[in-house]
Amino acid sequence: MNTVFDCSIIALEKVKNRAGNLSSVQNLNNVPFEINRIYYIYDVPSGSDRGGHAHKELEQFVIAVSGAFDVLLDDGVNKTTIRLDRPNNALHIKKGIWRETRNFTSGCICMVIASHLYDPDDYIDEYENFKLYRTQK
Ligand code: TYD
Repeated sequence: MNTVFDCSIIALEKVKNRAGNLSSVQNLNNVPFEINRIYYIYDVPSGSDRGGHAHKELEQFVIAVSGAFDVLLDDGVNKTTIRLDRPNNALHIKKGIWRETRNFTSGCICMVIASHLYDPDDYIDEYENFKLYRTQK
């Protein structure tokens, strides 16, 4: 089972020129899983919390492409909070980790690169069920 210590910030290359910066995420290259879905979260009202679930199989790269937000990671024993505030940093969240996202800055855009298509059955939505899932694994 993964712990929060298996989740890490991956520094993406920043290609700079006079006209600005560019970073890329490439399948099975700087992202260590097969990319099957990309989604993005935007227009987050001030003070909103999101997340509040774990995934049984899904892995994700989470990137603050604009603005900043906090990601709380919890493996049932250890907790850590990571502030994502650079478009060239990706947080790799492994499967089986509880996450919550909060403190979104105004106009923030959170891009998520995911290993699987959207599947509601992959979610563990209740924290008590997550604790049980972790202890039974
Ligand atoms: P959810 O995964 O709970 O978002 P967050 O973790 O940011 O709070 O999804 C919110 C809603 O969006 C939920 O009704 C499911 C839907 N959704 C999709 O339709 N497709 C997707 O790819 C995702 C991630 C969510």
